[in-house]
Amino acid sequence: MTSTSRPLSWIFTLLSFLLLIPIITADTAGCGKTQHSAPLILPYPSRNNKSRRWILRLPTSYDKSKPHRLIFGVHWRDADMTGVDGDSAPYYSLRALANGNHTTTIFISPDGLNKGWANSGGEDVSFFDAIIKAVSDDLCINEKLIFSLGYSYGGAMSYSLACSRPKVFRAVAAFYSQHGVRDSVLNLSMGKQLRDNMLKRNGCASKNAQDVARNSRSKAKTEHSCTAGYPVTYVSFDGDHTALPSDSGGDGGANSWSIKEVDTFFKQFT
Ligand SMILES: *[C@@H]1O[C@H](CO)[C@@H](O)[C@H](O)[C@H]1NC(C)=O
Ligand SMILES: *[C@@H]1O[C@H](CO)[C@@H](O)[C@H](O)[C@H]1NC(C)=O
Ligand SMILES: *[C@@H]1O[C@H](CO)[C@@H](O)[C@H](O)[C@H]1NC(C)=O
Repeated sequence: MTSTSRPLSWIFTLLSFLLLIPIITADTAGCGKTQHSAPLILPYPSRNNKSRRWILRLPTSYDKSKPHRLIFGVHWRDADMTGVDGDSAPYYSLRALANGNHTTTIFISPDGLNKGWANSGGEDVSFFDAIIKAVSDDLCINEKLIFSLGYSYGGAMSYSLACSRPKVFRAVAAFYSQHGVRDSVLNLSMGKQLRDNMLKRNGCASKNAQDVARNSRSKAKTEHSCTAGYPVTYVSFDGDHTALPSDSGGDGGANSWSIKEVDTFFKQFT
């Protein structure tokens, strides 16, 4: 992949941190390669000689000539790659929503070390680099459409990727964030700091995003006006540290409004 610095933008939900990262180049070397039948779980020996694994989910009928979107689902703390892949709402429910029978999107669930993403010495970012390289060499990927999303620690990792790989990822073209006003793990003001950092990076005009009141059982979406192609959307909702909030204030699972927002946000990038 080529490396040209561009402003970052992305998606993440904080604390309910869902993030994603598109790239801006061409199709990969893997396009047109003989039909690939990837094993489900792939190994990767990291530079620290720690063995790493990741799960690859190809579309039901993978078409080697078609450039695919690539979406990383990054697990939360104390989980592993099977948490995102095998959860009752796989890939935060995005896999089911992404496109009918998943004909154009490849999903990957990488495995953190010690069930987390401490990214010690940048080893987790290197892990993502290696996965992207392996996948690009073997599979047909549209490098303009690489995303990552995760909840909590997985959101933090996604955020970290967006910030530390503006060249590797070339551009991180979208930013979506949501935060529960009752978040007891990463409080609202810290969530807003993360958001504001992205507003700055993406050249957004200042705008006071509305926060909903506690126990209001409501949400408020603010779409910021930013550099063309680098939108930032922020949703404040009445809830705690939740990946897939519902309108009633709890966890909505596969019926959460949250993943629909992320899906719509990702799909604006073509
Ligand atoms: C990595 O592990 C292999 C196999 O256990 C070993 O042969 C090699 O020396 C290790 N390399 C480093 C740098 O520790
Ligand atoms: C998914 O696959 C089923 C069975 O092959 C088919 O009936 C259905 O129309 C497909 N849905 C979409 C959205 O492509
Ligand atoms: C939010 O959390 C940070 C870090 O724990 C803390 O310094 C800050 O005072 C908290 N802010 C509020 C409004 O609770």
